[in-house]
Amino acid sequence: MTWVEQLRAHEAVFRRAPSAHNTQPWQLEYHADEVAVTVDPARSLPDSDPTGRDLDLGIGAFVETCLIVSAGLGLAVTAVPGPRLVPAAKVYSTPFTIADVEARRVARGRYAPGPLDPAVLAELGPGLAHVPARELVRDLAVADRWMFGTPAVALELRDWLRLDPRHPRYHLDGLTDRALVLSRFEARFLATALHAYPVTRRLGLATLLATSGRSLLRYDGSVLVLLADGTDRVTAGRRLLRTWLALARHGLAVHPLSQLLDCPQTAARLTDRIGGRPLAVFRVGRPLAEPIRSARLPAQVH
Ligand SMILES: Cc1cc2nc3c(=O)[nH]c(=O)nc-3n(C[C@H](O)[C@H](O)[C@H](O)COP(=O)(O)O)c2cc1C
Repeated sequence: MTWVEQLRAHEAVFRRAPSAHNTQPWQLEYHADEVAVTVDPARSLPDSDPTGRDLDLGIGAFVETCLIVSAGLGLAVTAVPGPRLVPAAKVYSTPFTIADVEARRVARGRYAPGPLDPAVLAELGPGLAHVPARELVRDLAVADRWMFGTPAVALELRDWLRLDPRHPRYHLDGLTDRALVLSRFEARFLATALHAYPVTRRLGLATLLATSGRSLLRYDGSVLVLLADGTDRVTAGRRLLRTWLALARHGLAVHPLSQLLDCPQTAARLTDRIGGRPLAVFRVGRPLAEPIRSARLPAQVH
């Protein structure tokens, strides 16, 4: 078996990589001695992610996941711009394993109170800013209202929600009621409100929907911000994935809150607050309940 064939046999593992709205935007082209990673345009989010920030970060996270899996298989592979996976002189050096990739998941439920241990933050290295969760309570409400009140963004979210287990794509992609930790009632309410969206918006229900996230940051917790560091966004996505896996090694889960960057008003405030260019924002902590394993598309048939 060539290295490409060996890696390909583990496609289901590296497909565990995270992506915004769980769109899984990557496409793989397997060649004799390289694997090209391209983007499926139908799986991008032109309205919620117009600058392609989350798309690039997701592709970076995917590439890092592929490299960790390659290393776990003992394959000497590296990533080059494209991005492409190509042969390397030695196995990629990483502290992370295939088991870490398999176990990784975001957790959107409640976290135990208590800020992030400064020693853990120091271990993560530069390029991250810490903000106490409570300090972002109001901004998250503003960002949520913006998200549910901006038709193109709300409707794009609707396309990727799978709020009923009978949804035909429930086990394939998108965000399920269980992943979003919604009760049956909350899931039905959200589905109905988004189904009748133009009317809902006029009735001001967007505000009501947005308030559901109010309590999310009202505790003594931590939010981390990934800062741009002069590299491209795909490279930053690789750093993001390593950060999430490093936190997981400490039993800490993450919950991205990208709306804080998507909403122009809260993005500007966050930029001022941290004095750098934010690329990703996520809550960090010890989840009180085990997060669920999210859906994935099956590996490409070959
Ligand atoms: C760049 C990026 C942005 C994301 N933004 C959000 C977000 O704003 N809110 C959220 O709940 N999850 C967000 N996520 C998490 C994805 O929805 C999640 O990775 C996906 O649903 C797959 O679930 P899993 O990570 O548990 O496997 C983001 C993930 C990435 C990579």
